[in-house]
Amino acid sequence: MGFLVILCRKRKCFRYFLTTTSRKSKYTGLLWLIGRLSKLSVKEYYTWSSTPYGVHVIRLAIQHVIRYPNFAVLLIGLLLEWRLSISVLGAPFVIAFLIYKWRRRHLSIYDDVEEFLQSQNNLMPIRYTFSEIKKMTKHFRERLGEGGYGTVFKGTLRSGRLVAVKMLSQSKANGQDFINEVATIGRIHHANIVELIGFCVQGSKRAIIYEFMPNGSLNKHIFSAEANILNYEKTYDIALGVTRGIEYLHQGCDMQILHFDIKPHNILLDENLKPKVSDFGLAKLYPVEDSIVPLTRARGTLGYMAPEMLYKNIGGVSYKADVYSFGMLLMEMVSRRKNLHASTEHLSQIYFPTWIYDQFHDGKNIEIEDATEDERKICKKMLIVALWCIQLKPSDRPSMNKVVKMLEGDVECLQVPLKPLQPSLKREINGDRDNSNQASSSIQ
Ligand SMILES: Nc1ncnc2c1ncn2[C@@H]1O[C@H](COP(=O)(O)OP(=O)(O)O)[C@@H](O)[C@H]1O
Ligand SMILES: [Mg+2]
Repeated sequence: MGFLVILCRKRKCFRYFLTTTSRKSKYTGLLWLIGRLSKLSVKEYYTWSSTPYGVHVIRLAIQHVIRYPNFAVLLIGLLLEWRLSISVLGAPFVIAFLIYKWRRRHLSIYDDVEEFLQSQNNLMPIRYTFSEIKKMTKHFRERLGEGGYGTVFKGTLRSGRLVAVKMLSQSKANGQDFINEVATIGRIHHANIVELIGFCVQGSKRAIIYEFMPNGSLNKHIFSAEANILNYEKTYDIALGVTRGIEYLHQGCDMQILHFDIKPHNILLDENLKPKVSDFGLAKLYPVEDSIVPLTRARGTLGYMAPEMLYKNIGGVSYKADVYSFGMLLMEMVSRRKNLHASTEHLSQIYFPTWIYDQFHDGKNIEIEDATEDERKICKKMLIVALWCIQLKPSDRPSMNKVVKMLEGDVECLQVPLKPLQPSLKREINGDRDNSNQASSSIQ
């Protein structure tokens, strides 16, 4: 009825566009009638339009306009008759404007919520849909890296924040690695642990969204032949950061979190080269009081895996397995080479930790090119700590808490530990997760 009222008020115009839009139609008589109507006063029109005949005619007229719209003529008519334009076009405009305002308000509410959660250091991970994942990664355009369990892409959240999206490969995704990651880093926050922002589970599609780390993984920096951005002091800072991250996992939470895959590939660096432990695909949660943890099969990467993972007679598996992996990592960070380097010319240098030990034991100092006296001290300290961490017997290895103290203390206070045993290069061990370019780490 509102429409009729508009038409009746503007009947002159109504007649105008009816005649222009349907000049050739069978409603010529009707149009004539409408033309006559336009000469009526508003009051007369009301009286006429309430008669049964008037109602019928107006209904036919409206149906006709709706059925045979001629938009070009309609537009010209509306522009000429600006008052009608306002009344006819005004309504859709107002509705469109209200929808726009409503959507904006609601979107900004979501933005606010997202921003709030992020500003609160992500109180909890957010669940995203797969179409949101596609949108944030611009259909998986930029690849950041690849690991044993998935490919990582760069993405941008609606708030503008950069993220890394790990798409777990479907063939390997039995779901356990996803559960491990979300259950562990999803519940903790620490300056040296990569932040989990959200996740996606939709059918077989699984994704994990982390904060973006612009300087990528540590292996890129320590093993690269190009100009290295890490000097020894920076290396020391990174080592200390990683130690604090692992210490927090072991002792800072209501459960002990064992990572089981500490290696340079899984340490990420932010824009200030601050390190963050990442990739919790193999991690496990245990009650804090469990000193020895149950483990059905060996987990980790050869070259970094603790010997007790493979040989039961060495001792039970505990947080000391992570300490061992950290020791191997620390040794590689300082030496900037792989511990197991089968292509090395001198056989005695193949297992680098043993070679380092021998150097210290013989009273020699490690020769480091272009290093200042302070840098030499820092390196020696890190190497001695690393030697402690890779002791064969788990009980001989320090806790990460002790490692922090050793790294922060004076090098003169540190004793050189027992000689680390050289792993056999003969046997191949199964059960690793990502053994590409890793050597076997079985112990004789
Ligand atoms: N948050 C991130 N920011 C930048 N690069 C990342 C990020 N997470 C992972 N990457 C890159 O992707 C690689 C594989 O990621 P990772 O989590 O280790 O996957 P996987 O579980 O498959 O080993 C990393 O070594 C790193 O180069
Ligand atoms: Mg990895």
